[in-house]
Amino acid sequence: MKLESGVVEIRQAPLLSRLVCPRCKGGIHGISSGLHCKPCGLTYPTYDDVIVMVAAQTLSADSDQIPVQDKRKSDQQRLYTKVAEHWDLAAKPFSFVPNAFSFLNYGYVPTDNEQFSRVQLPEHLPNRYCANLAVEVVGQTNLTDKEVLEVGCGRGGNITTMNAFFEPKLSIGIDLCLASVQFCLGKHSQPTAFFAVADAETLPFPEESFDVVYNLESSHAYPERESFYREVYRVLKPCGDFLYSDFLMKDEFAVAIALLEDLGFELLRDQDITSNVLKSISLTAEERRHMLSEYGFESEKDQKFLEHFLALPGSDIFNDMEQRRAPYRILNLKKTR
Ligand SMILES: C[S@@+](CC[C@H](N)C(=O)[O-])C[C@H]1O[C@@H](n2cnc3c(N)ncnc32)[C@H](O)[C@@H]1O
Repeated sequence: MKLESGVVEIRQAPLLSRLVCPRCKGGIHGISSGLHCKPCGLTYPTYDDVIVMVAAQTLSADSDQIPVQDKRKSDQQRLYTKVAEHWDLAAKPFSFVPNAFSFLNYGYVPTDNEQFSRVQLPEHLPNRYCANLAVEVVGQTNLTDKEVLEVGCGRGGNITTMNAFFEPKLSIGIDLCLASVQFCLGKHSQPTAFFAVADAETLPFPEESFDVVYNLESSHAYPERESFYREVYRVLKPCGDFLYSDFLMKDEFAVAIALLEDLGFELLRDQDITSNVLKSISLTAEERRHMLSEYGFESEKDQKFLEHFLALPGSDIFNDMEQRRAPYRILNLKKTR
């Protein structure tokens, strides 16, 4: 894939006007090769109409990876670029299905665990379990007419679900993986939804710019989660909502909650949904195994990697969740200070 700079298409224009330099948070302006921050001297390039707000001086010409300094982050990019390849292949026969292969989360199936979602999803909605998780994370929070940022939006399924059922005024999804953001721009063409490449730990938005920040099954991969929490706090308006869900090691949740409360968040809901997520993984395991055999990779290493990623029953991730070493929880928090 060739990376090239160019003019960002007009449909991303409302996003452009909201961006700041992720490093110094100062204003940026458009130049022929992308977006430029004068104080930092950094240029943020664009690829077709994808805006890339990652602090790197140059883009590698032959790679579909945005160079980032942290190896753990470039590993994430590689991982999700591979996943995008697999999903795109598997999605081909289903191109007529809206939202097909737009989710990367493990999904949620009701159990006797209390449900908080305000909406009942239609019985035959494609990827219903994944969409279920998306709305369960929203819980009782009102999104109507709100400005929402999803950090780690993957292939955009959560944003389209929120747009369909809650009608936010505007939603922006950012993700570190270029292939996923390209998919979002191609698939989820909506006048109020925008997507860009950016890093969760250095958000390219001014302070107090969103009513809601949403983050689902992504933060476990951030090397410096504390920086991410600080950024969420910074970009949220006063009384803004942080809708957060992930699987983390048990003690990591305790650390996360302490950090978030210290920053000035009030914890409104803390729910363990591991049983719901495991049920979803178990019920979809056969379908996913079939996908792996039909559309998997030739290389054994890549195939093993995909099996691990899907957390099929018997995998380390599944076992960690089942033994509650790595519970899957939903936290709903409010910026009260
Ligand atoms: C398991 S997927 C979940 C995607 C989406 N939230 C969903 O529910 O379908 C995790 C996502 O986090 C993204 N990610 C990982 N590290 C990131 C970072 N530092 N900044 C932004 N996104 C990141 C990955 O590229 C991937 O798309």
